[in-house]
Amino acid sequence: MGDAGGSAPAACGRSPGSICAKKKPGPAALSPGMARLYGEGMETFEIFLACVPGLEPVLAEEAAALGLSGPVVTPGGVTVQGGWDAVRRANLCLRGASRVLVRFDTFRAMHLSQLDKRARKVDWASVLRADVPVRVEVSCKRSKIYHQGAAKQRIETAIAEELGAEISAEAEIRVMARIEDNAVTLSLDTSGAPLHRRGHKLAIGKAPLRETLAALFLRQMGYDGAEPVVDPMCGSGTIPIEAAEWAAGLVPGRSRSFAFEQMAGAEPAALEALRGAVPRELPFAFYGYDRDQGAVRSAAQNAERAGVDHLVRFACQPVSELAPPEGPAGIVLVNPPYGARIGKSKLLYALYGSLGQVLKARFRGWRVGVVTSDQGLARATGLPFKAPGPVVPHGPLKIRLYRTGVL
Ligand SMILES: C[S@@+](CC[C@H](N)C(=O)[O-])C[C@H]1O[C@@H](n2cnc3c(N)ncnc32)[C@H](O)[C@@H]1O
Repeated sequence: MGDAGGSAPAACGRSPGSICAKKKPGPAALSPGMARLYGEGMETFEIFLACVPGLEPVLAEEAAALGLSGPVVTPGGVTVQGGWDAVRRANLCLRGASRVLVRFDTFRAMHLSQLDKRARKVDWASVLRADVPVRVEVSCKRSKIYHQGAAKQRIETAIAEELGAEISAEAEIRVMARIEDNAVTLSLDTSGAPLHRRGHKLAIGKAPLRETLAALFLRQMGYDGAEPVVDPMCGSGTIPIEAAEWAAGLVPGRSRSFAFEQMAGAEPAALEALRGAVPRELPFAFYGYDRDQGAVRSAAQNAERAGVDHLVRFACQPVSELAPPEGPAGIVLVNPPYGARIGKSKLLYALYGSLGQVLKARFRGWRVGVVTSDQGLARATGLPFKAPGPVVPHGPLKIRLYRTGVL
């Protein structure tokens, strides 16, 4: 039985661990059979927490704060060690991860007949259920086995014949085989739909931020759930809703299902305590403004679905009318329009200029973060930004966070 019981904040907030930065291990570092048995029948895996490239160290901090064991930054994510309990908590509680993969076996295979033989020896029943269909994806790099289709067929046959599970292209459960330098690594996607799909943001406006990205930017701003957040151009409300859920101790995955719930050994019943948490009372609120009435309406509906409508105040208001709310100072985090997606360049410079003026004049004591694709636009605010954060892909664009200290 895992330790997911108790209230959400207690179950999700472990003592911080340390973080290492490491390159991907080469094939020599791979041990035969990655899933090990130790302790009292507890199975432990290498767990890969995928995230948007550029913000891996921020996710590593979150993983450490959640108590996930030994976070190591790798390209495209963070590796931790743990059993099904860690998989469950990572999926339900991490705000910044886009998916959670379990690396459950690794072996060498120089040719297809070796792959066929070894794949039949994999303990499929320890992770998959015979009554749940499976799909297989294969990638090959720098290996003697180069025909992905043939490799996929060998692994599918092993699963179908040794476990008895149906193979279907439409299956929710995904087994991923990476064949690199003649080493085969088998992973399971334990998330299913990507984790930014919390199940609350059904109404979206122009160029919405993914929830996972909003959470990582909030963490980059030093947000820990203990101060108010204002978004003066909130669109569908992603930033203030994410901040409010976080502060209220609501786990991000509480309203959705996960692929691991249909895997062997995952004990889905252990999720219920995390899902049922009641929002914590807060002495401050969250604010989202937009000049577009439709956006404000969508944001309010999204907040209601997320169960934080009592914590987030939305209003239709242009940036020129922005004023700090009553109460303690906190964070302004905003994702204004940028040229390539919406709006025109000259108007955008004027908009960023007036945003900067309003913030400098009225938000003394607050910290400001501006997420944009264009350094010129960030500069047009006239705000005293620190060195910009890493470049992060966002659809066809690259964006980054520009942040100030306390104004
Ligand atoms: C890139 S979108 C924000 C997306 C948002 N972060 C989300 O996740 O949905 C920019 C928003 O700025 C709003 N906006 C543009 N000019 C504005 C102004 N002068 N005052 C207030 N809002 C404005 C737009 O209506 C749009 O919703």
